[in-house]
Amino acid sequence: MRLLLIGAPGAGKGTQAERLAGRFNIAHISSGDLLRQHVRDQTSIGQTIKAYVDAGDLVPDSVVLDMLRKPVVAAAESGGYVLDGFPRTVDQAKAAFEVAHPLGVEVQAAVHLDVPDEELIRRLLARGRGSDDSEAVITHRLQVYREKTIPLLEYYAGREWMFAVDGTRSPGQVHEDIVARLRKMAAFDISQD
Ligand code: AP5
Ligand code: MG
Repeated sequence: MRLLLIGAPGAGKGTQAERLAGRFNIAHISSGDLLRQHVRDQTSIGQTIKAYVDAGDLVPDSVVLDMLRKPVVAAAESGGYVLDGFPRTVDQAKAAFEVAHPLGVEVQAAVHLDVPDEELIRRLLARGRGSDDSEAVITHRLQVYREKTIPLLEYYAGREWMFAVDGTRSPGQVHEDIVARLRKMAAFDISQD
């Protein structure tokens, strides 16, 4: 099973990815978590990208694509993946497809977690993850989402493997809604789960 979660900062991508990974025994791959780990470990990637992450700007596509290639291919070969936070631009989606399609590891379903801005801001301020959960950076991350990621939703719109769920309900309700929608998709045989 190969899934994508798309949503604004605070929409619940990480929360839902973790539940889906546990339920379907697939790998949870979060671009943001991997990037933050590089920053903590002060790797060469970490040093290159720290300023972007702290400011809430997108890291250059080449860095993200290089970082994800191996884990995504490995996960696809051992049961599947749920990607959280990637792709988040049309260019990333196109580049990923070019790599994944010949290997037969491209995405089978994309879920848009839909949550209004007031709720996103409330959740992120309550969480206070670090430098990027300050009010000013949250506002900027939402702006980047509107400019760079909404076009990705438009690019995927109308594809039969893309659907939106109401992400304002409890994490358990959102999870069950996603699973119910996946069950209806011909690509998956999960009627017994
Ligand atoms: P990333 O780590 O992806 O952050 P984000 O998109 O800003 O989203 P968050 O992780 O803050 O939120 P989430 O949707 O995962 O929600 P969560 O489950 O945590 O990216 C960080 C940075 O890395 C970017 O700014 C960029 O610099 C860089 N980056 C990452 N990917 C990149 C890419 N592809 N290209 C370029 N740069 C990239 O939930 C949030 C909070 O809400 C939690 O406290 C949670 O408990 C709570 N919550 C979750 N669900 C619910 C619910 N249903 N009800 C109530 N509370 C809930
Ligand atoms: Mg996250």
